[in-house]
Amino acid sequence: MNTALCPDFTLEAVYESMASLPVFPKIVHEALRVLDDPEKNISDVAKIIRLDHGLVANILKLTNSAMFGLSQQVSDLETALALLGQNRIREVLIASAAMPYLSRDLHGYEMSPQDLCFHSIGCAMISEVVSQRLGFGHSTELFTAAILHDVGKIVLDIYVGPRLMEVLERSRRDESDFSVAEWEVIGTDHAVAGSSILQQWEFPRDICRAVRAHHDPDLYIQDRLSAMLAFCNILAVQLGLGVGADGFRYRISDELLYVLGCNEKDYFDCLELSLRALEDAQEVIRLIFA
Ligand SMILES: [Fe+2]
Ligand SMILES: [Fe+2]
Repeated sequence: MNTALCPDFTLEAVYESMASLPVFPKIVHEALRVLDDPEKNISDVAKIIRLDHGLVANILKLTNSAMFGLSQQVSDLETALALLGQNRIREVLIASAAMPYLSRDLHGYEMSPQDLCFHSIGCAMISEVVSQRLGFGHSTELFTAAILHDVGKIVLDIYVGPRLMEVLERSRRDESDFSVAEWEVIGTDHAVAGSSILQQWEFPRDICRAVRAHHDPDLYIQDRLSAMLAFCNILAVQLGLGVGADGFRYRISDELLYVLGCNEKDYFDCLELSLRALEDAQEVIRLIFA
């Protein structure tokens, strides 16, 4: 049987691919647990992180980039952690551990290894400036959801690839978002796949829900984290930030702006702030891929 012609069969294969995906580094969850333990300190967190050299290297790259904006360059892990503070340590840990998953060639979505990484990091950086502008304050959950929101693409890529033209044609013909056409052709979409991956990786339920909802207007208006993630993603897409074949094939709904209390001026301010975040994100990507 040709699996590319049968959505049910494709769906089964998608779930098998998800199950065989490498687990999110246990070290990160352990470091986050120690970070929450009042009896432990930064040295205890550093001791755990040091077990993974690749993770340490990524942490230092990101800590020294515009993403975390420290006032000084650091070359050792403990100093980096001390300067970052508790919330930022969470973010740098998640972002650093996510890099190997996000830096992949996604032929199916026509994305280079830099594209998904740039889009994800840019979206996280946009989430910070937009949260501030809209008066939502800093949210580590939003930052995490933004970094990982399109992770489903790494699993769906091989299934979307052979049917990309069909997905694009449907999206054009029906004037529907790419994710709707993706669902119709493949039997699922990258938001659903991403949410399942994050559940498998034991991420908190709120983050899994926001990722599941980020292209679904009926879902993303139901809670603030989902609405903010959907908004930041749309801003990243509108600026063409690391987009592939699905770029510019998503629309912003009036309801989304309404639930966020975002008027026309707020929206254009957010777009302008996002443009500046984009420049910083470019610098981060240059450092990561140097
Ligand atoms: Fe997406
Ligand atoms: Fe996205």
